[in-house]
Amino acid sequence: MTDRYAVVGHPISHSQSPRIHAAFAAQTGQDLSYSALLAPLEGFAQTVDEFRAAGGKGLNVTVPFKPDAWQYASQHSERAARAEAVNTLVLERDRVYGDNTDGPGLLRDLTVNQGCTLQDQRIVVIGAGGAAAGILAALLATQPGELVIANRTASKALELAERFSDLGPVSGCGLAELAGDRFDLLINATAASLDNQCPALPAGMIHSGSGAYDLMYAAHPTPFMRWAQAEGAAWTRDGLGMLVEQAAESFAVWRGVRPETHSVLKQLRSGLVTYQ
Ligand code: ATR
Repeated sequence: MTDRYAVVGHPISHSQSPRIHAAFAAQTGQDLSYSALLAPLEGFAQTVDEFRAAGGKGLNVTVPFKPDAWQYASQHSERAARAEAVNTLVLERDRVYGDNTDGPGLLRDLTVNQGCTLQDQRIVVIGAGGAAAGILAALLATQPGELVIANRTASKALELAERFSDLGPVSGCGLAELAGDRFDLLINATAASLDNQCPALPAGMIHSGSGAYDLMYAAHPTPFMRWAQAEGAAWTRDGLGMLVEQAAESFAVWRGVRPETHSVLKQLRSGLVTYQ
């Protein structure tokens, strides 16, 4: 029987995940279907209960339900427990396993696809919400020289830095405090691109070798990428590669086989028209 998977979110119609997983299934010869589920904002658990009762084997979880999925799962991977957010659910009869593949997905896109080295680098993560929490453990595991979390609301950056402080040299601050500080890698983990905005960042954070990565993606460079280009960044990249890589990690968690991602990313890029 064909195994059923889906991505659940609100909104969900824009999701690229069904296309990505259909391509992975065809490539690996796995017998599965993958659809998109719209859950009401207050109805995440019920939507998952129904999908599970109907025989669903696994779910990807996207905005705004990653914290709900963390609460829903009865067991967690270490990385999901640390992030307090789940993007991958494995649905079994007597347990629901929650994992978070966002961090490994970003890391693979940065290091393999972009060819970036993170060890000893100065990294700033802009934003202190769920998206930022999902990538911090993976970034700290690469042993950066320093990782700064900067957020519009400084207190949230400080709290997040405290939560991850046992994993490496991480600190938190407000956006204005970044003035005069230069970074090798800047990562935009805010939701600003969704509103077609760039976070209010001071000038002078970028040197001629800096890279700038936006977790969001679009058909055109995001406002953050355009800001970084104007500031003289060596390279900019949006989050489409991370989307494909986190999907491949989820696929591996479910099916035990990791699909090839390069061709899928290329195919997706050519058909891209809107924000995620
Ligand atoms: P997500 O799960 O996508 O991270 P979230 O948890 O609501 O969503 O967090 C959104 C993040 O984007 C926050 O860090 C938010 O900053 P505040 O904590 O100050 O609200 C940040 N953010 C959203 N819009 C922004 C903007 N226009 N400029 C700067 N930061 C923004």
